Amino acid sequence: MRRLHFLLLLFLHATSSAAAPAAASGGVGCDRQCGNTTVPYPFGFSGACPIRLDCNVTTPQLVTNSSAASPYPILSFDATASTFLVSLPPSCNRTVGEARAALDGSRYGVTSHTGLFLARGCLGKAAATGNCSVSATIMKTALRTAGCGDKGAIWTCVAAPLPPPQGLNATAAAAAWDGEAGQFLPWKKVEDAGCEDALTSAVSALSPEGLPSVDFGAAELGWWLDGTCANATAGGQCARNATCQDIETSRGTRGHRCACVVAGMSGDGYAAGDGCYYVAGEFLTSYHCCYSSQ
Ligand SMILES: *[C@@H]1O[C@H](CO)[C@@H](O)[C@H](O)[C@H]1NC(C)=O
Ligand SMILES: *[C@@H]1O[C@H](CO)[C@@H](O)[C@H](O)[C@H]1NC(C)=O
Ligand SMILES: *[C@@H]1O[C@H](CO)[C@@H](O)[C@H](O)[C@H]1NC(C)=O
Ligand SMILES: *[C@@H]1O[C@H](CO)[C@@H](O)[C@H](O)[C@H]1NC(C)=O
Ligand SMILES: *[C@@H]1O[C@H](CO)[C@@H](O)[C@H](O)[C@H]1NC(C)=O
Ligand SMILES: *[C@@H]1O[C@H](CO)[C@@H](O)[C@H](O)[C@H]1NC(C)=O
Ligand SMILES: *[C@@H]1O[C@H](CO)[C@@H](O)[C@H](O)[C@H]1NC(C)=O
Ligand SMILES: *[C@@H]1O[C@H](CO)[C@@H](O)[C@H](O)[C@H]1NC(C)=O
Repeated sequence: MRRLHFLLLLFLHATSSAAAPAAASGGVGCDRQCGNTTVPYPFGFSGACPIRLDCNVTTPQLVTNSSAASPYPILSFDATASTFLVSLPPSCNRTVGEARAALDGSRYGVTSHTGLFLARGCLGKAAATGNCSVSATIMKTALRTAGCGDKGAIWTCVAAPLPPPQGLNATAAAAAWDGEAGQFLPWKKVEDAGCEDALTSAVSALSPEGLPSVDFGAAELGWWLDGTCANATAGGQCARNATCQDIETSRGTRGHRCACVVAGMSGDGYAAGDGCYYVAGEFLTSYHCCYSSQ
């Protein structure tokens, strides 16, 4: 079995026309493995990784500045959009300050597809669903389940003004949606609401048919690396066949994103990561099968 595994690895190197998905670790000195989960570069769990995460046994989670803070497990990564989903279950014990300290990182921030539900001390705003697309009934049930009692009775929702995709066809809705891809939730709006607690959040999504949907109890975060695409090109940061996109970060600085956008290609788009490569579906299946049975 060990020999078969070895042969399969050789086969992997022989068949990858573009940069090989450098097995699990990739990126010199950046450890991207957490249990059985491999995170895309520039994320990782060692000091050499541009975006540091914590590893809780098998679950990658955001680094928080105190052990008293609740954990923020990461649900999924989208390396093409440079976004990831973080779990933010309803809680009556999470201050706005704590949430901001965790979600507003030096190289990631909450995207404009996310709405935050806030409570306690809000400046004169009663229950308002705002533009968060979550009904008051769902919120009430969720907060009762979380044991919030009266604390969650009055809440408000803060979201970036997104163009509502209603009435557009799928192509036009997707274009409007992508136009917001680099945008972040303005924390000023959160501060202006004057609330003390961050109860939970919801992420608006768009189905391939262009229909809006909502992911309750999660927040979408977008990531970047510092400097412009000119910097990245000079430094050789984006992989072969990756494209570079300049963005204005949630901190108002210049950032860039490398991504694989060629049809049929996968990968994180970074030269120090997995790069971009064609996925050989059948091969990966057999690799998974034989490696697991060792
Ligand atoms: C690790 O994950 C477990 C199970 O999800 C959770 O209960 C625990 O609080 C986490 N530990 C830390 C340090 O985040
Ligand atoms: C609420 O948070 C405080 C401090 O962050 C902690 O001491 C307390 O145990 C938490 N309560 C619950 C019910 O989680
Ligand atoms: C840690 O986070 C809390 C909010 O939970 C914040 O008030 C505090 O200033 C932070 N401490 C440091 C050292 O960043
Ligand atoms: C929803 O967004 C629109 C467009 O930005 C804005 O005019 C409207 O006031 C928002 N509604 C609420 C309740 O915040
Ligand atoms: C979608 O709408 C745009 C304008 O709103 C139009 O140009 C385009 O042809 C439409 N596409 C389809 C597939 O109907
Ligand atoms: C990007 O390039 C500019 C101009 O060469 C330079 O001033 C800046 O420090 C570079 N930024 C990074 C993050 O390398
Ligand atoms: C990938 O990059 C190589 C070298 O830059 C180029 O020759 C090839 O055409 C690219 N492939 C695609 C599909 O863009
Ligand atoms: C990791 O993967 C191996 C092989 O697929 C499996 O046997 C093992 O149970 C997994 N461990 C965890 C913690 O999921």
